[in-house]
Order: sequence, then structure tokens, then C-alpha cells
Amino acid sequence: MSDTLTIALSKGRIFKETLPLLAHAGIVPKDDPEKSRKLILDTNHEKVKLVIIRASDVPTYVEYGAADLGVAGKDVLLEHGGEGLYEPLDLNIARCKLMVAGPKGEAEPVGRMKIATKFVNSTRRYYARMGKQVEIIKLYGSMELAPLVGLADRIVDLVDTGNTLKANGLEPLEHIADISSRLVVNKASMKMKHDTVQGFIDRIAEAVEKH
Ligand code: ATP
Ligand code: PRP
Repeated sequence: MSDTLTIALSKGRIFKETLPLLAHAGIVPKDDPEKSRKLILDTNHEKVKLVIIRASDVPTYVEYGAADLGVAGKDVLLEHGGEGLYEPLDLNIARCKLMVAGPKGEAEPVGRMKIATKFVNSTRRYYARMGKQVEIIKLYGSMELAPLVGLADRIVDLVDTGNTLKANGLEPLEHIADISSRLVVNKASMKMKHDTVQGFIDRIAEAVEKH
């Protein structure tokens, strides 16, 4: 590897599921972000560093070139808009669905529905496509609570097993998008560090194939 590479990852699910793919590309972090307070992790490879940031900040770091590459959920990329990024690879990890959900067995209310979500842009586009006028209420998490306390009629959230919805008396109603994590690449890095970046993408693609 002739150039330096900075890779942006978020803690938790994405970090855990990306580790085996990185290992296949010969990259092993020296610290565990769940245990360390460091935000820049060295790896066994002198020229490769990992930066550990919020999931929703990954596209921003990569867009501005603070990281050459990153791993981000498609949900996050749909919200960000994907400008200034290449998205060369579906990593097939952290798979789930972006869905509309609401109180179990309840009919759709008449009039303008209130929709609570942190996915404001995807929600706006979805209801525009459906030709429905709705009021979108921006939240930062625990969307499942909103219908229970009368804040909203529906939520738009990620669903995997459906257990979180069920535990809160909600049910999935409409499918908006299939979600998985993607490798994203800064456009300038792709040009200026082409061989290093492309070599990395190829190794990760091989790892995805084998998974
Ligand atoms: P932030 O820290 O920015 O609020 P977050 O808490 O949503 O982000 P995670 O929960 O680690 O971060 O989720 C990271 C990504 O994993 C999401 O963007 C989504 O693509 C995917 N994801 C989220 N929930 C699930 C789930 N239940 N099953 C599978 N994948 C999921
Ligand atoms: C995500 C998402 C849902 C839940 C869905 O939350 O926001 O609440 O997973 O998964 P399920 O259908 O399998 O129950 P997460 O577990 O990431 O917790 P978070 O609130 O910290 O994001």
C-alpha cells in the first residue's frame, strides 16, 4: 500500500460487521472502540487509520475528504443525498428495512397524518411519491414512543426482526426501502490515490463474496 488511507466507521453494529471484511483486506485495528476512548485507531498497517464517528456523520467526513473511505447505512446515505461520494460496493451487512409503522390494528386516520421520524428526507420523498400530504415531526431516536403518547399517527423507522415494534404495540405497514451498509469513497481520493483505493475496494469486494 503506497498511500495513506483513512477509513470512517461508526461504533457498534457497523464496526463489528465490518471487522471481518477489513481482516480479509489485511487490516486489523489495534484498539477496540467499545473499550478505548480514542477516536483515531491505528491498525497493523502503518498507513491505514480508522476514524470512529457517529453513523450519520460518515458521509460528511468522506464527502469533505477527512476520510478517504467509509462505511454507512443506505438509510444514512439516502438522508445525506450522496453528493460528492462514490458508492462502489454493497457490503451486505447491517441489513434491515425502512418502513412506515403504526399502532397495531388501527385504521388510517382521516386528514393530514403526523409522521415522526429521524429520516425526514426519505419520509418527505416517500409521501410525495404516494401523493399524500403529511406533517413530518423530526425526532432523533426512540421513534416507537411517538404514537404511544399521541405525538404522531405513524413512524418511519428501521425494522429488522420487528421485535421493537411489537414490544411497543406497533406493526409494520408500508415498505419504503431495503437497507444495507455501503462502502463510500471520496471522489478526489478515488482519483489521486487510485491504485491504493481500488486495491482496497477489490479486497473488500472479495470478502463480501465469501461471506
Ligand atoms: P447515530 O449514532 O448516528 O444515531 P445509530 O444509533 O442509528 O446512528 P446504529 O444503531 O449503530 O447507529 O446503526 C448503524 C446502521 O445500522 C444504521 O444506519 C442502519 O443502516 C443499520 N441498522 C440500524 N438498526 C438496525 C437493525 N435493527 N438491524 C440491522 N441493521 C440496522
Ligand atoms: C434499531 C432501529 C429500531 C430497531 C429495529 O435500533 O432504530 O428501533 O433497531 O430492530 P428490530 O426490528 O430487530 O427490533 P437500535 O437497535 O440500533 O437501537 P438505537 O435506538 O440505539 O438505534
